[in-house]
Amino acid sequence: MFKTDPATPDLFITPVADVFIRNHLESHPRLDRATWSLTVEGLVERPVRLDFPAVLGLPQTRLTAVHECFGNPLHPTVPTRAVTNVEWAGVPLSAVLELAGPLPEARHIWLEGADTGDFGGESGVSYLKDLPLDDARSGVVLAHTMNGEPLHPDHGYPLRAVAPLMFGTNSVKWLTRIVLAADRPDHIFTTRLYTRVLPGESEARPVREKDVCSKLLSPGDGSAVPAGSRELAGYAWSSTEVTSVEVAVDDEDWRPAALDRRGPDPSWQRFRLRRDLAPGPHRIRCRATDSAGRVQPLTGDRNAVHEIHVVAEPAA
Ligand code: MTE
Repeated sequence: MFKTDPATPDLFITPVADVFIRNHLESHPRLDRATWSLTVEGLVERPVRLDFPAVLGLPQTRLTAVHECFGNPLHPTVPTRAVTNVEWAGVPLSAVLELAGPLPEARHIWLEGADTGDFGGESGVSYLKDLPLDDARSGVVLAHTMNGEPLHPDHGYPLRAVAPLMFGTNSVKWLTRIVLAADRPDHIFTTRLYTRVLPGESEARPVREKDVCSKLLSPGDGSAVPAGSRELAGYAWSSTEVTSVEVAVDDEDWRPAALDRRGPDPSWQRFRLRRDLAPGPHRIRCRATDSAGRVQPLTGDRNAVHEIHVVAEPAA
């Protein structure tokens, strides 16, 4: 179910062909735009069923955002570094909710995909996630387009949720049902998996806001580069803006890299630092800090500092 990820190219926008695919359940719903529909039900004034033309008739929006997998929910502290930056277009969830009119007692929104199957010892489950209604109403987009192309069947065609500040697990693909509820659903993908205890806390909370993280993309991990002055570069991201990135070559001290500002969209931020690489093997690491003061840990968690190994070759 979890295919090997394509390497992340060193580009601001990740081409669709290089975006990782995460499908938990066997049945890959081959949905058809002509027959697909989305229902909004539960604690609403008017249950709604929208077909695809009705979705296109609502106000449209677009944004560029980091799309990152949390990692294997059975191994929540192991880094996978499956991350991309893509442009989504679609309808603000708020526009769909306005049609249905959530009742005052609605506090949570459940998002359900059309895929079903077995996972983590449970059989016949669907892919269901939930978000606090206020967070979802202000940030979630129901996207039909990735990088200007209709969603690929693997990425949730014809419509998926995108929670731009959150890990990809919250961005439900093949979206067919939205339920407004007073409580969270008890479900394998909501309360049993994709939960974690954050440093300094004692209670497990759902995996939602992205961690502060960074990834060195240039030079490529395992590559050979000419010795001498080299630009060491990559991207950093978090649920808030990243405010600094440091880079360390071998056992030298951390040095501040130049860092682009984030801008209005929650996209990733370029960092770069020029350093002299003497002939021989080198270990290069990067470490980001965000505006909430969170710093990537050196080891031990899924967002531990990224480390690459390169060999600098002397000029012939
Ligand atoms: N939505 C459905 N319906 N089924 C899934 O298995 N996987 C989630 C999320 N939405 C999933 C889903 C996870 S864990 C991630 S990281 C993202 O989709 C991956 O989106 P992608 O496959 O388009 O990259």
